[in-house]
Amino acid sequence: MESIEECVNILHNAEYLIALTGAGISQESNVPTFRGQDGLWRQYNAMELATPNAFRQNPEIVWEWYAWRQGLIANCEPNPAHLTLAKWENEGILKVLITQNVDGLHHRAGSKNPLLVHGNLWDLKCTHCGYRGSISTPVTRLPRCPECQALLRPDVVWFGEGLPSKVLDQVFVELERADAIMVIGTSAMVQPSASFPLVVQRHGGQIIEVNIEVTPLTAIADIHLRGKAGELLPQIDKQLRH
Ligand code: OAD
Repeated sequence: MESIEECVNILHNAEYLIALTGAGISQESNVPTFRGQDGLWRQYNAMELATPNAFRQNPEIVWEWYAWRQGLIANCEPNPAHLTLAKWENEGILKVLITQNVDGLHHRAGSKNPLLVHGNLWDLKCTHCGYRGSISTPVTRLPRCPECQALLRPDVVWFGEGLPSKVLDQVFVELERADAIMVIGTSAMVQPSASFPLVVQRHGGQIIEVNIEVTPLTAIADIHLRGKAGELLPQIDKQLRH
């Protein structure tokens, strides 16, 4: 396993550092991740609920799960990993943040314009017309479109759905520009996000991975830092300033 010094070295030399985050960065804020024990809600597997099919068959249960997640997230606070990334962005060390998370914790930590590749838990869209809206408190009953009365759904990306194309275009511009990418708290199993770091590497950029365990990305990452993001990022930040 590589050291924080080697990571800091890359950060010092990087001209265009970007970051990609996943559910693991919010784990220390007590937001459950998607895989393993954490991904269970009642008897349901998170990955079976986050699908268009589950919503078609049982919108009540899917909305109940989202309402539970909204309530849970409303009571969570950004942790030192979110705060460090926001600080780096503010100081110009980090150019762009791409996140698969829908929890809004990067925003709340002060990140200005994270690229949300999987949407936002507080945004809604109509299943029938083009209506879009947002809410600030958890859903309490099946939400209906104010314009056409059809069911509203969370404006997040579900399994089997494509990513929002405008965001994806922006992401690829950034991946092409980056000479280093820090990949934090993602299992690197869900496409296309899992391959974002490879795009950076393909044109000579370096990959720094921060994770509590080995992932499919570890073998090709230039640096793999094993540990909790909320502990490692502040340590990296401290060394960066030496
Ligand atoms: P996962 O739940 O698949 O993976 C979380 C990763 O975070 C794992 O690799 C853990 O080892 C790591 N991890 C956990 N705690 C950590 C900590 N404190 N510090 C650092 N790493 C930690 O989450 P994602 O990779 O984000 O998509 O999952 C990708 C997508 O799959 C999600 O955005 C979601 C899900 O289905 C949709 O909802 C469309």
